[in-house]
Amino acid sequence: MKTGALGVTSVAIAAAAGSAEPALAAPRPADAPLPITPSCSGHETPSSVEGPLFKPNSPERTNLVTPAITGVLLALRGVIYDRECKPLPGVLIDFWQCDQNGDYDEHGFSLRGHQLTDSAGAYRLDTIVPRDYWGRWGRRGAHIHVQVQAPNGPVLVTQLYFPDDTQAYGRNFAAHNAGDQFFNRACVVTLGPKQGNRYAGRFDFVIKTTA
Ligand SMILES: [Fe+2]
Repeated sequence: MKTGALGVTSVAIAAAAGSAEPALAAPRPADAPLPITPSCSGHETPSSVEGPLFKPNSPERTNLVTPAITGVLLALRGVIYDRECKPLPGVLIDFWQCDQNGDYDEHGFSLRGHQLTDSAGAYRLDTIVPRDYWGRWGRRGAHIHVQVQAPNGPVLVTQLYFPDDTQAYGRNFAAHNAGDQFFNRACVVTLGPKQGNRYAGRFDFVIKTTA
């Protein structure tokens, strides 16, 4: 049975009205919006180091899952706001990450791609959960590198992280997050429940539009 966000809302309303409707909703489809989405705080998304593996001129695409890519799928969605919480269309957002083995593609553009936010300031990224790895800065918890830039604005360079209870590749995300000197709770994506081999995730950015 498919029950989307609307179904969950209906159950909640019924429960509040004292109905005998069961309180448990069916699992939410992975493509549905997360029922609880972070509201815009107006606080600028923290920056982080770029790292040595950014490559300019990545392909324009929202789906990084090519046939060669295996791993735990991640459908990440979000909106990019300015500091007044106005959604920003036309923002350049460039993602790059390692694969399920902790390896970056340094020769091609696997798991690299850029896009522009739509008229509602939204982006969508279909990718996989990256793995932790050992790099120049020691142990790194799983992360996705991002550059975000409003038209004629400054570039925000940052990294997105994963919750401690993420289930992927048999790895201990809590331990690797704790051991990562760059880990920042303000940059952790919100994940829905894992469904099969797939997570739906959410992260909203707040950026500067002028230097
Ligand atoms: Fe990295």
